[in-house]
Amino acid sequence: MEGNFIYHNPTKLYFGEEAMSHLGKELKNYGPTVMLSYGGGSIKRNGIYDAVVAALKEAGKNIVENPGVMPNPTYEKVLEGCRLVRENGVDLILAVGGGSTIDYAKAVSASAYYDGDAWDHYWVHQENPVCQTVPVGSVLTMVGTGSEMNGGSVITNRKAGFKLGKVFGPGLYPKFTILNPRFTMTVPHYQMVAGFFDIMSHLMEQYFAGHADCTTDYLNEGLMRSLIHSTRIAAKNPQDYEARANIMWTATWALNTLLKCGKGGDWEVHQIGHAIGLVTDATHGMTLASVSLPYYRLVMHDGLHQFVRFAVNVWGVRPDGKTDEQVATEGLECLEAWMKEIGVVTHSRELGVTDQNIPAIADAALILPVGYRTLTRDEVVDILHQSM
Ligand code: NZQ
Ligand code: ZN
Repeated sequence: MEGNFIYHNPTKLYFGEEAMSHLGKELKNYGPTVMLSYGGGSIKRNGIYDAVVAALKEAGKNIVENPGVMPNPTYEKVLEGCRLVRENGVDLILAVGGGSTIDYAKAVSASAYYDGDAWDHYWVHQENPVCQTVPVGSVLTMVGTGSEMNGGSVITNRKAGFKLGKVFGPGLYPKFTILNPRFTMTVPHYQMVAGFFDIMSHLMEQYFAGHADCTTDYLNEGLMRSLIHSTRIAAKNPQDYEARANIMWTATWALNTLLKCGKGGDWEVHQIGHAIGLVTDATHGMTLASVSLPYYRLVMHDGLHQFVRFAVNVWGVRPDGKTDEQVATEGLECLEAWMKEIGVVTHSRELGVTDQNIPAIADAALILPVGYRTLTRDEVVDILHQSM
């Protein structure tokens, strides 16, 4: 293991088909007013809204409704939530939805009482809260981002021209999360597989960095293997509880800070993906899927030992009689075959990327000086062209 790190994750998880039965008990830990944040209405159609409201009523809470959190939540919407928090003296923000809703709840929590430009403070300057924050709890309905057990809050500000992530400290992690795999069964197929790829991308972003022999990589490989196995089942049969439960658990561990212990991390695929999301409003996981293969084919040569390890330990490629380049290339071919098998988008033109908007996407993509290679802007443009 390399480096020094602190591992601290305070989120309490309730997992399984009975998980919701714990919500009432959790609610007792907070004051009387709960802001219920949710998306465009899926929770009203699948019954999760009714179950949550019943628990809130049973616990005697005043409910402040905060619907309409959109995928890729905007800063404008964050400011609307902040007003509701201040006007109603909200004691708990209960986010019911996917990563967008939970990310949004953290953003509102940190910004509601911030006396200044919260966008500038948190997302541009990456500062920490210096004001009162509001506790956040979550009920997860769509698997992928890991937002249910981390401090990530990715917000789109079209006026500023950026989709940026802020990783808050443990004080802003959800205090508790309800994880019932059954709640994810109504996610449309396209969203579901996009979430599957998002998980894989989180695993790869943390795996493809560093040179040391590191326990964290062994944990990561185990999660990748479980994910590949279960997603193959779930893509064919989304109602397979065992597979969906395994995927939900993997997603949470893929991005709850465990896998960055002793690792630097890469995250360049996410930077390009966020820039595509900013310009096209495409689904997060699909933006990552569309650029991953050209990106990894480029950086493979800089981190060859890790790409060989990926091929052998994750995909079972046999290295005998082959060069490292051949083994690593075969690993990426296995990744590509799996992506096609589960049905993610592998061409960014399907997401609205065009020759005309590539310069704007490249301008919005942050280039991080980490991972095996620091890209140039021209390389970002090349990756985008190859991704089409
Ligand atoms: O809005 P509703 O009607 O609820 O519909 C949602 C939405 O349209 C639907 N959905 C969710 N649960 C459902 C369901 N539909 C039917 N049944 C259910 N049970 O799915 C759609 C997508 O939801 P969303 O929350 O946007 O998806 P996801 O969880 O992928 O979140 C994406 C956002 O998270 C950010 C992304 O950038 C993006 O903005 N990320 C957050 C991270 C973090 N916190 O650490 C890391 C990630 O890399 C990512 O950047
Ligand atoms: Zn992601």
